[in-house]
Amino acid sequence: MSNVYSEELIEEIRSRNDIVDVISGYVLLKKSGTSYKAKCPFHTENTPSFSVSPDKQIYHCFGCGVGGNVISFIMSIENLGFVDALKLLADRGGISLPDQYEAVDKEKYKSKQTQYNIHKESARYYYDNLKKSKTVLNYLNMRKITSETIIRFGLGYASEDWEGLYQHLLKKNYSIDEIAQSGLVIPKKNQKGHFYDRFRNRLIFPVFNLTNKVIAFGGRVLDQQLPKYLNSPETILFSKGHHLYGLNNAKNNIKDGQIIIVEGYMDVISLYQHGMKNVVASLGTALTREQAKLLNRYADEIIIAYDGDDAGRKATLRALDIFAGSGCKVRVMKLPKGLDPDEYIKKYKLEGFIYQIKKGLPLVEYKIMLAREKYNINSTEGKIDFSKEVAQILKNIKSEIEIDGYIKKISKETGINEAAIKSEVYSNKRMYNRDKTPKNRIGNNRNTIEYKANITSNDRKNAIILAEENLLNAISQDLEVFIKVKKFINWDDFTLDIHRDIAKIIYKKMNNKETVIPGQLLDIFNSEHEGQVISGIFSKNYDKEFIDKNIMEYINTIRIYKLQEKINNLNNSIKLMSKENNVNVEKTNRIYIEIIELKKKLEALKGK
Ligand code: GTP
Ligand code: MN
Repeated sequence: MSNVYSEELIEEIRSRNDIVDVISGYVLLKKSGTSYKAKCPFHTENTPSFSVSPDKQIYHCFGCGVGGNVISFIMSIENLGFVDALKLLADRGGISLPDQYEAVDKEKYKSKQTQYNIHKESARYYYDNLKKSKTVLNYLNMRKITSETIIRFGLGYASEDWEGLYQHLLKKNYSIDEIAQSGLVIPKKNQKGHFYDRFRNRLIFPVFNLTNKVIAFGGRVLDQQLPKYLNSPETILFSKGHHLYGLNNAKNNIKDGQIIIVEGYMDVISLYQHGMKNVVASLGTALTREQAKLLNRYADEIIIAYDGDDAGRKATLRALDIFAGSGCKVRVMKLPKGLDPDEYIKKYKLEGFIYQIKKGLPLVEYKIMLAREKYNINSTEGKIDFSKEVAQILKNIKSEIEIDGYIKKISKETGINEAAIKSEVYSNKRMYNRDKTPKNRIGNNRNTIEYKANITSNDRKNAIILAEENLLNAISQDLEVFIKVKKFINWDDFTLDIHRDIAKIIYKKMNNKETVIPGQLLDIFNSEHEGQVISGIFSKNYDKEFIDKNIMEYINTIRIYKLQEKINNLNNSIKLMSKENNVNVEKTNRIYIEIIELKKKLEALKGK
């Protein structure tokens, strides 16, 4: 626990930031019963096992085990320390924090804030310039960008002035260092300590993060000069390959679970203006795994809509591979050669674009299509090469039914015998599998043996952990159950340290007839491990009937464990005495009698 802020203040910050509100800024939450579900932002998965409970104010992933309250969520997802996470949430909740701490991350937090401000100020500056510049307004007009869209995406203009932004920021009282750190100015080579603007005579695209703060810029020339685009360098706010242009808008406009990924800034903007608002671009670099993971958080399916040229196809294949490893469903929208999404939607309108999405091809079919284009299927040789390549593509498919479906189709198309294609596919498959397996097999064997050796003590341990977890969950929600449990076990009977700490608080609150909010408990426990344990306990559904049926068994499991522990301790103390030649007959007898009493109790409990 941090002693930087009082518990009351932390509690106020937590309670002003509803966990569902906050988390829905980062993942797409879907209501499911009394809680919300999403695909976990902390590991890769296909089906949602990440759960957020508004009543309990906690999140928990049943897949990878992470969990905690709103503060630990912000720590993990924003990669912040405790104090910085609190600061962020305090800002969000409109609470001002006493500036009393000297934490290590204070400096970093402050310089991040400064950079956010510099970027906001710069975006404003570029926007004001744009409104004054006939050239840019004409350019945008020619590209059919409306003034509404200009505002929506905060477009701007960097004038020809070599120091326009630099001087502007100096006037706003930012220091040279701070301005330099923004990456928006570049040091002059032969004049130390002097800078000039990175972006000049360019149309400016601000890049927003998921909370709608400007973190970088892209700039496009207004003519044929090169480079066509310039982007911000890496800064404290912006790391390449970790952000997606347009995701701040797209995440609030998901349609049919889909997000469309395109190559360019202009594509995102143009599609948005035509009504396709679930579109992102990968910001100048090839798609990264990080970006794929980010998309997988929000979308059930990704539509790749890269340009219809060779570069676009190459990029598509690479993106398909990356998505394949991210657990995302993907389809490829085929654009005619020479058209990018911006040009396509201008030509064929929204309806045409939507139709083309519907016709989008899944991975395997897209690869088969490319193979088909590569060979001349009218010649026998072409048919053979094409079929061989398809057999290579099909070897990766797990489902035999699926493979069979494709084989039938290809056989019909080429006239090559189904059995021949099939034998080619499976011989490829065998080779592929042989390359992949041996290491795994050894690893698995070892694990199995270890697990078996431990099974009995594990079982006992698991039984007591399960009993304690289920009791803690039940007593925190049901006064009747609490009263019953209290009759048999006190908070300090819980055997795991962390369970005991939680029990202590729950007992106190329930005795005072206060509501227990698990998210609040987590204010006091803030290590990652504690977050996992606590969210795990309290994310389980409380099934009253089940608990009523099992409650005595749980209670007795703990009581038996405690008795056994006492007996062991007494036995040990006798052993110790004899070892140290310190045997006191009277004392030993007393201990023996005690052990006998305890054993009787133990037998009685076990007999139940
Ligand atoms: P318009 O030509 O205005 O329609 O822009 P576009 O977005 O369609 O551009 P294009 O298809 O040529 O490029 C796609 C994306 O790749 C751009 O939006 C940029 O993010 C990036 N890109 C293109 N050219 C460059 C370049 O010269 N340097 C960098 N760093 N990125 C580029
Ligand atoms: Mn374009």
